[in-house]
Amino acid sequence: MRYRTQSIAYWYFAFAVCLFGLQMVFGLLSAVKYLGPDPLIDIIPFDRSKAVHTNLLIVWVLTGFMGASYYVVPEESRAEIYSPKLAYFQLGLWATGGVTAVVGYLFGWTTGHKLLEQPYPVKLTIVIVMLMFLYNILMTIRKAGRWTTTEGVLIAGLGLAALLYLPALISFDNYTISIFYRWWTIHLWVEGVWEMVQAGLLAYLLIRLSGADREVMEKWLYVIVGLVFIAGIIGTAHHYYWVGVPAYWLPIGGLFSALEPLALFVMVAYAYVAMRRSGLKHPNSLALHWTIGSAIFTAFGAGLLGLAHTWPAVNKWTHGTLITPMHGHSAFFGAYVMINLAIITFALPTLTDRREGEDQKLGYWAFWLMSAGMFGMTLAFAAAGVGQVYLERIMGLGYLETQLKLQVHMIMLTATGVLFSIGVGLFVYDFFRARPRFITQGDGAPRGDEEAAPDDGAAAEPA
Ligand code: HEM
Ligand code: HEM
Ligand SMILES: [Fe+2]
Repeated sequence: MRYRTQSIAYWYFAFAVCLFGLQMVFGLLSAVKYLGPDPLIDIIPFDRSKAVHTNLLIVWVLTGFMGASYYVVPEESRAEIYSPKLAYFQLGLWATGGVTAVVGYLFGWTTGHKLLEQPYPVKLTIVIVMLMFLYNILMTIRKAGRWTTTEGVLIAGLGLAALLYLPALISFDNYTISIFYRWWTIHLWVEGVWEMVQAGLLAYLLIRLSGADREVMEKWLYVIVGLVFIAGIIGTAHHYYWVGVPAYWLPIGGLFSALEPLALFVMVAYAYVAMRRSGLKHPNSLALHWTIGSAIFTAFGAGLLGLAHTWPAVNKWTHGTLITPMHGHSAFFGAYVMINLAIITFALPTLTDRREGEDQKLGYWAFWLMSAGMFGMTLAFAAAGVGQVYLERIMGLGYLETQLKLQVHMIMLTATGVLFSIGVGLFVYDFFRARPRFITQGDGAPRGDEEAAPDDGAAAEPA
């Protein structure tokens, strides 16, 4: 690490990976509930275990993004974080809000809006935390008087994510209106501003890991963000097919959302070209696996499998079936889980006693078990989803009768979910096996091993 305050990131990452482990417990719990009689139905029914599972996902992914910002911004702006105290206080408040929400769900304290179940006081806490985070980061950049496109895209993504959370604070009595605005948060997060965060981190990692030319990488970053916005904003309408709004949303949603994968394929090309140009010489090859893996898995899960059910003529049948989690799991894993694990894996040797590029065996097991496990889970959800569409929507069987016929796929889901979870367990163990050790190298001056990389400050602009 080059700046003392980059060590803040370690504690964010540590909290994030703990929640990642816990998320798996509730994922597996939700999966086994599909297998037969549920002895826990009166204690933790499916809706609660699933809400805990998905909310833990969102909380830890955002924790990771904030940790990543505390790591990346000092390097990019060449300055210490404005207020480390505020950053730690923010983490404490965030953790309190997160734990309160999760415990609350177990007791049925929820607003019931999928992925936005947080009760009002928790939502307010989230807004306050985000404001503290943005203030701290913006003051850091302001004080430094310099910023780069890479960190600009990363922080703009998180700032807009906070802004887009605001519609979730308003409640509407009319269900259609309520659903209409729910997508302003959920869709514009995952298919808009969070992708800026992913793209920003991808650029940072590719520049550091491959030594690719910063100017070229950042020009492409604008192209990717532009494409995401052009298609993604109007693409929101692919959620407006069956919610009670006018029918003209059907062609609009179909057309624009079908263009969304373009940005994701450009992202893969971006990663590939960087690798081809600059080689794979960086000792932290594991971080490189997670980075390239993120681009490829996003193109698969979000691009291909998103496209698979985005057209109204298809979505008419698949909407709200197990086809949705088929896509939801693979897209989320590729775009936001893998990029988090990439930046954590990249940063870890600089924040702990682990030496760069050494002792990566466990880490590789975690990488392959998670990648293979998630691929298997995606196939299991897909098989179950296709069966469900046919039996329930086309043949007209009842919901529960259909579910009984899908159990074999849910066994496969559970088995591959176990594989995936073993990978997560190894990642968490590997993370905590390294002892935190915060030593700044050369008082913030660039490290010797990066002299070959023509990255530093090449595109620094005044704030
Ligand atoms: C990284 C990017 C993406 C992530 C993380 C993601 C994740 C998700 C999640 C979690 C849902 C379920 C939401 C809910 O029901 O509340 C969903 C729904 C959906 N996604 Fe994505 N998605 C991504 C990109 C895309 C893209 C690019 C497309 C289209 C090409 C797409 C098409 C859809 C459709 C059509 C639905 C609605 C499914 C239904 O009708 O039940 N997604 N996505
Ligand atoms: C990093 C890994 C994971 C991610 C990103 C993730 C993400 C998600 C998301 C976004 C949903 C909502 C799905 C939707 O409606 O589209 C969900 C639901 C669910 N997840 Fe996961 N999950 C992960 C791991 C697991 C694991 C290991 C299991 C165990 C098999 C699991 C089982 C489930 C189940 C059963 C549901 C409920 C699906 C339904 O609504 O019927 N998840 N997860
Ligand atoms: Fe969407």
